[in-house]
Amino acid sequence: MRIYKEKDYEAMSRRAASIIAAQVILKPDCVLGLATGSTPIGAYKRLVKQYKKGKLDFSAVRTVNLDEYKGLGAGDEQSYINFMNENLFSHVNIAKENTNVPNGLNKDAAAECARYDKVIADMGGIDLQLLGIGNNGHIGFNEPAKSFADGTHMVTLEEGTREANARFFSSLDEVPTAAYTMGVGSIMRAKMILLVASGKAKAQAVKDTVSGPVTPKVPASVLQLHPNVVLVGDEDAMSLL
Ligand code: PGA
Repeated sequence: MRIYKEKDYEAMSRRAASIIAAQVILKPDCVLGLATGSTPIGAYKRLVKQYKKGKLDFSAVRTVNLDEYKGLGAGDEQSYINFMNENLFSHVNIAKENTNVPNGLNKDAAAECARYDKVIADMGGIDLQLLGIGNNGHIGFNEPAKSFADGTHMVTLEEGTREANARFFSSLDEVPTAAYTMGVGSIMRAKMILLVASGKAKAQAVKDTVSGPVTPKVPASVLQLHPNVVLVGDEDAMSLL
């Protein structure tokens, strides 16, 4: 694991954006695995800026997002498809048909998960997977569990995760209780993984990820087994390393 300890959120975002930009430049038709949440927003802003300056071209890039709330779709402000449109897709020249997010409106969980696994397989796998990390060590919505899940599956969100995400909703009651998420297996098959972390609340999860036992109780700890992981964090997130 290569580790970059950056001074603050801005520096972390700059470093993460430069790694993603390098991937797009080196392989213009790359498959990017993308993440939502507060942490990657600064990196997405920088990618948009670089695109607007003519330094990046997303016309052949394909994307696959980690997860989506069950029950939310593009018409819902808090859906992850909406997040991606607002923070990245609508501001760069990516073809919308080349972007993929699990369909939270599909009530048939088995069908949706199988469809999404096929989307990933048909793309030939993921070149670079961007990941945030939950306070509990989750990646995507792979919550602490008894075993690592391989493919896309439906999860029940932990109360702590719902509370952490309630800031995006008008009340905790509105936060969905379930989500569709890419599995740990799909994440681990990415050629390269870029894990970003910011803030004191992530410090313990980051420490457990880097130096704790590999256990599904801390899903991100599995990244110790991946040959090409870059962790970019700010000083607060890295304070326990
Ligand atoms: P955050 O979420 O970037 O909003 O902290 C990360 C995550 O829960 O994976």
